[in-house]
Amino acid sequence: MNYLSSLNYGNKILKSNNIRSYKLDSELLLAKALNKSREDILTNLNFTLEQKEFYMFKRLLIRRKKKEPIAYIFNQKEFWKYKFLVNEDVLIPRPETEIIVEEVLKLTSYNSSKLFLDIGTGSGCLILSIVKERPNSQGAAIDISKKAIKIAINNAKMHHLENKVKFINIDIDKFNNNKYDFIVSNPPYINEISFKRLEANVKLFEPTIALKAGLDGLRVIENIIKQSKKLLKKNGKLIFEFGENQENKVKNLLMENKFYINKVCKDIRSFPRVIVSTKLI
Ligand SMILES: C[S@@+](CC[C@H](N)C(=O)[O-])C[C@H]1O[C@@H](n2cnc3c(N)ncnc32)[C@H](O)[C@@H]1O
Repeated sequence: MNYLSSLNYGNKILKSNNIRSYKLDSELLLAKALNKSREDILTNLNFTLEQKEFYMFKRLLIRRKKKEPIAYIFNQKEFWKYKFLVNEDVLIPRPETEIIVEEVLKLTSYNSSKLFLDIGTGSGCLILSIVKERPNSQGAAIDISKKAIKIAINNAKMHHLENKVKFINIDIDKFNNNKYDFIVSNPPYINEISFKRLEANVKLFEPTIALKAGLDGLRVIENIIKQSKKLLKKNGKLIFEFGENQENKVKNLLMENKFYINKVCKDIRSFPRVIVSTKLI
């Protein structure tokens, strides 16, 4: 079998299993099976596969047809400008979370030395990207999941930032260490009803603790706001992501806790997604 007929075979299997990105996924999986780039595959469509390479491709197709996300199959996801190691212990970094990095960069200069805290760090993508961009800064990152912290530490080592960011396995409710200039977070914020409606690739594979946050989806956000009051320096910034239909509730919670709301940023679909706020007292 050559590359072209293998791709057609893959397309057919993935399409019949309702994988919307079947064409791209087939190309990526064939490239992985052959340990080549996608470009190598597409420019050599008449090359022949060895039997064992085809079996490897078939094994990858089986994983994908069961809806396993490509990022978990590749154990890797790009976020901001960098690659991060991921597995089923951590959320796959999302492009909308990059808004938080953008906002931090707008508020700090390249040489500034700020102290950051990332709440619910998962793969560590957020804090590690920030510290890469602001090399004189330092940070701490916490997560309730021990397995997530292990992945985040591996990512810190991969990016040579293990001495810049301290990773701690702890619940935000119990964390009361130090005073920070910035607190950033992409917390779990999905409510019970929306969770049931999530696509299979998210619901079946990504960690529930990274997604669900009680009946209204605000349980962790509430705790983050309360704790940030203690953990931020005066005029420190709290910047975090929230879900659909949560903007007003999030604003109220912040105001009740004496935060000034600087701005709300919209995502690529024009949904309010990230809030920038300042601790006033
Ligand atoms: C939506 S994921 C975000 C991961 C990563 N920051 C990202 O943007 O890809 C939320 C993370 O918060 C963690 N988490 C959930 N509840 C927590 C809590 N009470 N305290 C600390 N971390 C928590 C989860 O384990 C998960 O890793």
